[in-house]
Amino acid sequence: MNGRITMQIITTVAELRRRLGGRTASVGFVPTMGALHAGHISLVERCRRECDTAVVSVFVNPTQFNDPEDLVNYPRTPQADCALLEKAGVDFVFMPRESEIYPRQDLRRFEFGDLERVMEGEHRPGHFNGVAQVVSRLLEIVKPDRAYFGEKDYQQLAVIRQLVRQLHLPVEIVDCPIERDGDGLALSSRNMRLNAAQRESAPLIYATLREMSQRAGSVPLQELIRWAAQRIDTDPQLKTEYIAIADADSLQPVSSWEEPGKKYAFAAVWAGDVRLIDNIEL
Ligand code: PAF
Repeated sequence: MNGRITMQIITTVAELRRRLGGRTASVGFVPTMGALHAGHISLVERCRRECDTAVVSVFVNPTQFNDPEDLVNYPRTPQADCALLEKAGVDFVFMPRESEIYPRQDLRRFEFGDLERVMEGEHRPGHFNGVAQVVSRLLEIVKPDRAYFGEKDYQQLAVIRQLVRQLHLPVEIVDCPIERDGDGLALSSRNMRLNAAQRESAPLIYATLREMSQRAGSVPLQELIRWAAQRIDTDPQLKTEYIAIADADSLQPVSSWEEPGKKYAFAAVWAGDVRLIDNIEL
């Protein structure tokens, strides 16, 4: 016996509040949509190291899916998720029904300005509004001191930071580096849906981003973007949706290397009907 209380699975807001209310020790929170992988577990481990109580939510949020088929196909593995979370030493897993998160239709409209008009915001209309709805609701329910998010969803992180500022939420947002498979593919729940040929081709996305980072500054910027899209599209399993080079803070497109500030390259690529995203600092 190590003296730890075993992980509790909680399905209602009232029960979670009852368990967490009145705690003076720090609460850390990792929101997820389940289908957990080593990337999520690295967030959970960090949360456990830095906070006294670790809470993880598993909820596939319908309002952030702009494509209904993507919502239907999104992988759901609740039993395996619970086993992984128990092993990782989580205190509370919150697995609510949709009616707990949205007792009535969430009609809130958030405004993130230019941040939501590029890349994921441009290509997935309504996506960030749905993310903001669920994240604000979850933060309101869990009331964590710290919440942990992965940098694979870099633009989501920027939106969430802005959301927290807009709503004056008393939470520290902690960003965690991208976890990758041995061949470089960024870990994602969606990787489970790749067939063997797509999985074999998918590492080309990160290989291309790495080469962009090596060539940054020495090739005209627009030419590098075109080159990267063409390189990915030479693989019959892959189809680029966008490649962008953007300012690391504003996420607005950069038109020349001379512009000041840190820059990132971003990619969204289809492998069949699976959409993969990745990014790299340049
Ligand atoms: O990044 C995700 O898995 C989701 O967008 C999040 C933050 C859990 C909200 O549903």
